[in-house]
Amino acid sequence: MMRYPHLVFAGAVIGVCCTVARAVDAPLLSPGVSQRAKVNYLVHCAGCHLPDGHGSPGTVPDLREYLGQFAQHPDSRSFIARVPGSSGSPLSNAELTEVLNWILVTMNGDQLHPDFKPYTEEEVARYRRDTLIDVGPVRQALIKTLAESAR
Ligand code: HEC
Repeated sequence: MMRYPHLVFAGAVIGVCCTVARAVDAPLLSPGVSQRAKVNYLVHCAGCHLPDGHGSPGTVPDLREYLGQFAQHPDSRSFIARVPGSSGSPLSNAELTEVLNWILVTMNGDQLHPDFKPYTEEEVARYRRDTLIDVGPVRQALIKTLAESAR
């Protein structure tokens, strides 16, 4: 079930159209923010994660797989900003916040919970200071926690 059809729709029309109604409906994806986030994603992330986020099986994870669920769970919310690709990127905290919210809304719209809270700049700044070095085991533990909490 697609819980955020309006956000996904807004994502599909990035940079194409601009109405006040849509800006109010999906403030995260106001055309200016979307366009900037998309360009920053393409420049700083897509080299590894590829333009649609699917990455490379076995080496670069698919950004469309778990991020919506990670963002919802208190234990895993920080993970997305702590991985080296996010944490160590040259993007400012404001830019990284936009990119992460853009990834969530455009690539994970159908996973987002109705009470999904977009990342704030303050939150991203705090999380990314604590760079995660050994990502694999932490990711596996988070996925296990998610599976258990879904039971
Ligand atoms: C040089 C290649 C590279 C670049 C550039 C890169 N990443 Fe990554 N990313 C990875 C790899 C590899 C992983 C797997 C974890 C690890 O080894 O760091 C990953 C993991 C992630 C994850 C965790 C996904 C999951 O399901 O576990 C997120 C979120 C992420 N990257 C976001 C970003 C963002 C946002 C950018 C751009 C600002 C970015 N990455 C740039 C290679 C990259």
